Amino acid sequence: MARTGAAPSTPDRTGADPAPGGPTPGGGFGGRLMRRKPVDRLVAEGGHGDGGELKRSLGMWQLTMISIGATLGTGIFVVLGEAVPKAGPAVVISFVIAGFTALFSALSYAELAGSIPVSGSSYSYTYATMGEFIAWLCGWCLILEYGVSVAAVAVGWGQYLNELLDGTIGVTIPDAFANPPGAGGVVNIPALLVVLLSMAFLLRGARESARVNTVMVVVKIASLVLFCAVAFTGIRAGNFHPLMPLGMAGVSAAGATLFFSYIGFDAASTAGEEAKNPKRDMPRAIILSLFIVTVLYCLVALVAVGAMPWQQFSDADAALAQILRQVTGQSFWAVLLAAGAVIAIASVVLTVLYGQTRILFSMSRDGLVPKIFSKVDPKTGTPRANTVIVSLFCGILAALVPLGELANATSIGTLFAFALVNVAVIILRRTRPDLPRTFRVAFSPVTPAIGFLLCLWMMTSLGAQTWKWFGIWMAGGLVLYFTYGMRRSQLAREEV
Ligand code: ALA
Repeated sequence: MARTGAAPSTPDRTGADPAPGGPTPGGGFGGRLMRRKPVDRLVAEGGHGDGGELKRSLGMWQLTMISIGATLGTGIFVVLGEAVPKAGPAVVISFVIAGFTALFSALSYAELAGSIPVSGSSYSYTYATMGEFIAWLCGWCLILEYGVSVAAVAVGWGQYLNELLDGTIGVTIPDAFANPPGAGGVVNIPALLVVLLSMAFLLRGARESARVNTVMVVVKIASLVLFCAVAFTGIRAGNFHPLMPLGMAGVSAAGATLFFSYIGFDAASTAGEEAKNPKRDMPRAIILSLFIVTVLYCLVALVAVGAMPWQQFSDADAALAQILRQVTGQSFWAVLLAAGAVIAIASVVLTVLYGQTRILFSMSRDGLVPKIFSKVDPKTGTPRANTVIVSLFCGILAALVPLGELANATSIGTLFAFALVNVAVIILRRTRPDLPRTFRVAFSPVTPAIGFLLCLWMMTSLGAQTWKWFGIWMAGGLVLYFTYGMRRSQLAREEV
């Protein structure tokens, strides 16, 4: 593995971050689980992989687009339709509640991304503050947030593609080739296709992928703005009464469902080693993307429930497209929106796939997953083998597995990682008060503590079945850590 010029500092198991080259305190089994990677070392190793370095090519604008790219997709185009029957016209308030929950964690992400600008996102922040074992669990949950959600989102892409094909050329992909086994099909070809297409862009380089993503983000924002402009003419004041037909309980249940639509704002924090000025730009990109997305969500939701009676949402498959059809009496606008959705969801696949490769890159550099994930191609400055393996894994998952409840586990895994990030802010303020921070969460530790509690509250509002999948997933993670990661960890090797 390529080494930096910085002297490797030793792992630490005490409260304070050790000085580079300082003594290694503690020991034993518990001590091994708690070994922490010093912040200075995490930062010094940034960008270095096996055989080459990642290229620093991303500016503030592109980082913001990466976060919006990963966030704006299935949630607003599909999940909104599932949330309205729970909340009624007050779904707008549900969006605000979910956005508010996301905001607390976003502030914590912003502080840590500005002080530990690496590619591992919450995995690396946890490694620096809570030790290797919790970091591994966090990284394992990030595979739910990124890897498994790529597959889930790709499956949804196929459905919109079919709608678009139907609306434009009157042809649809037969069920057998548009669904996985167990969901009425043999193989989901469109899902595999969108993952392989994203892989092709990622292999060309982060800069090239970011360019394509920026175009796609502009198109998806434009299609939502267009939706608002057209559907606005169909708003009827009567549709807002009663505002909360199922009471506040319905509004908060819809908020928990809609939290999914905010997942992804943290994607910029996986680009720390390819950003030109990560300390300055990453916190800004995270906050700005969340702001843009929240405004868009609230506007779209407001117009949607104003233009179509809330009771009709339960029968509407692609609710936004149906609203446009009703308001204009033509299918042209609905087809245009379907095109927007196809692009929107493709950009989620691209950016989330990117994030997954970079998180595994960091974990591999630390020895917790095989070295092949941190091998950098010197020509393109990208982790090629990593990208191919992750894409094939996600592509096959999307093509062959009906994800069902496993996809729901995406939210619980994400919330677990978000909760840890809030704790990491509090710990790092105590262990490294001296660390330069380009962004500081106001009123710490109260603000991150609220963020932590909000994440726990959202986790408890998810169903028993989701918790069962989460338990199975975490058990698998424990087996892998104790049989592989714990022994192969870079810090463990340095102790021998
Ligand atoms: N937030 C992402 C989406 O809505 C996962 O597609």
